[in-house]
Amino acid sequence: MAEEKKFKRTLVTTALPYANGPVHIGHLAGVYVPADIYVRYLRSKGEDVLMIGGSDEHGVPITIRARKEGCTPQDVVDRYHSIIKKSFEDFGISMDIYSRTTSKTHAQVASDFFQTLYDKGEFVQKTTQQYYDEEAHQFLADRYIMGTCPHCGNDKAYGDQCEKCGTSLSALELINPHSTISGSKPVLKETTHWYLPLDKHEPWLRKWILDDHKEWRSNVYGQCKSWLDMGLQPRAVSRDLDWGIPVPVKGAEGKVLYVWFDAPIGYISNTKELRPDDWEKWWKDPESRLIHFIGKDNIVFHCIVFPAMLKAHGGYNLPDNVPANEFMNLEGDKISTSRNWAIWLHEYLQEFPGKQDVLRYVLTANAPETKDNDFTWADFQARNNNELVAILGNFVNRVVVLTHKYFEGKVPEAAGLLEIDQKAIEDFQAERKEVETLLDGFRFRDAQKEAMNMARIGNKYLADTEPWKLAKTDMARVGTILNIGLQIVANLSIVMEPFLPFSAEKMRSQLGIGKQQWEKLGDMAIMPAGHQIGKAELLFEKIDDSVVEAQLAKLAAIKKANEENEWKPEPIAETIDFSAFEKLDIRVGLVKDCQKMPKADKLLVFKIDDGLGGRTIISGIAKYYKPEDLIGKRVLFVANLAPRKLKGVESQGMILSAEDANGNLSVVMPSADVRPGCQVK
Ligand code: 2FM
Ligand code: ZN
Repeated sequence: MAEEKKFKRTLVTTALPYANGPVHIGHLAGVYVPADIYVRYLRSKGEDVLMIGGSDEHGVPITIRARKEGCTPQDVVDRYHSIIKKSFEDFGISMDIYSRTTSKTHAQVASDFFQTLYDKGEFVQKTTQQYYDEEAHQFLADRYIMGTCPHCGNDKAYGDQCEKCGTSLSALELINPHSTISGSKPVLKETTHWYLPLDKHEPWLRKWILDDHKEWRSNVYGQCKSWLDMGLQPRAVSRDLDWGIPVPVKGAEGKVLYVWFDAPIGYISNTKELRPDDWEKWWKDPESRLIHFIGKDNIVFHCIVFPAMLKAHGGYNLPDNVPANEFMNLEGDKISTSRNWAIWLHEYLQEFPGKQDVLRYVLTANAPETKDNDFTWADFQARNNNELVAILGNFVNRVVVLTHKYFEGKVPEAAGLLEIDQKAIEDFQAERKEVETLLDGFRFRDAQKEAMNMARIGNKYLADTEPWKLAKTDMARVGTILNIGLQIVANLSIVMEPFLPFSAEKMRSQLGIGKQQWEKLGDMAIMPAGHQIGKAELLFEKIDDSVVEAQLAKLAAIKKANEENEWKPEPIAETIDFSAFEKLDIRVGLVKDCQKMPKADKLLVFKIDDGLGGRTIISGIAKYYKPEDLIGKRVLFVANLAPRKLKGVESQGMILSAEDANGNLSVVMPSADVRPGCQVK
């Protein structure tokens, strides 16, 4: 275990999101809200802290998007960089800088970083065979190659993964590969790249992580251990691509730095852009602490690859902690940009203006700190109505309104505290330590729960003392209670500032006070008697069922559209000869009667005129038809199917239906009034 070190300053980095789409709740929950809570907490304690962010603007997904949209990669990143930046600002993510990896500073810093490693002999050079598109005259990144998955037969598998069966692939494994750029069959061609020999770094990485950082979250530690136990391999840090930072070495024309090489260096470049004069102390002074906030898919890069790069370069601090989160799902399904299965931050704000804190609160209450978690609209509504409105909002509002009502908005004197007052104050003050321990340990979900308990203590105090009932008999007592209530609100504005910054600001303005430092938390004399408070304003409002229903309907429509888009006809069944077909006796029948089968949701019982005296057929289509709508219709049925019993009734044949992309059934009917009993040929 690393011995407790005292640091002078903390550099917090937040994963650089790819600028190939807007950001959604998964980003916020996984990285930016927890990082913001932490940074706001440190700032409130008066610590020296910087929060670094920016867009990750290189890499293949961006070139693919540009190709699809018929624009340049620069157009793509320009568009999304602004949208992402604005979303973070709107949600109060208080980065000290939000820059981008297409900045000039970054190109220089990343290029110099590569050069240093190159000059020090920290890379190995390897020549391998890679797929090349002879029509487009370029090497193909894995995502530009499609072919048939050797595991499941999906003919739309990518060169790095089959999205149907989830298997990781190498492009060389694909059957019948083709280039998605020209459609041509790629050829293998030799190419040379630079590799970071992670195998060489393995011994010190093992010790540094497995022995010295046992305090890291178990998901992070566990993932690192399994990578290390599998044995590290050299990793290529360059690519044959025309979008990225050129490899600054002679003979490397047409090659760029691999996006995962340049992106983490973006943290350094952005610090330099923000603090050109003293950026180095944030990265190199041993008394500076480095913390990376990331999602679980980034663990290997931040705990193994980037530290190896920093160590190979020399002079840089290694991260002290990497509090990575697992994933936030949406209504039970994985969030997916390409399937539009997400709540986009800019859309949320259009639909819920001013409700940033509600989303921040719900995402933290369900933070995927130890396992994947699920965002549901029902939970969003419940947490808003039962916690933010009923506890925090209600308490603050009652104290402020009563102070206006009985004391013209002036903080009353607190005199002669009773046991009940002392108890509330002590309970309240005791929470501070709890919240601090949890925040220091990156346990934001539990920390917010404790902060909310502080509001519960206030709410209960008011309910127990009932000052509104004492107003006629004992105004001095009312004054004492409200004084304590107001001091608690002021304290809540401190403890809630990291979690709910917009609401904390509203609390301060209702109290007529400025921002208070963390050290004041527990102080029961933040406002002196006689201090004039501001106007009452509701912090939160109830969310109706109709709002939740509308959101669920929106998601249902997205799901339906996805299912339709992704639908493909079943492969044609095995070939049969004509005699096999002739064995099937398909006929026209007239529906004389149709009823729901008792105690069977899915089944309809048909009486069919088959021209031969009639028969009963049971069909599982009750979900799609009202029985009466089918009476009098002509249908097709298989007449020579062996009878079988369903719920005690014999079904003598099968009515033919077509199944659509969503699995809905539609009965097949002849286009003219053919006589019942006629054969289908
Ligand atoms: O996973 C991602 O979205 C990457 N763009 C994160 C990069 S983090 C850092 F290295 F820049
Ligand atoms: Zn597959």
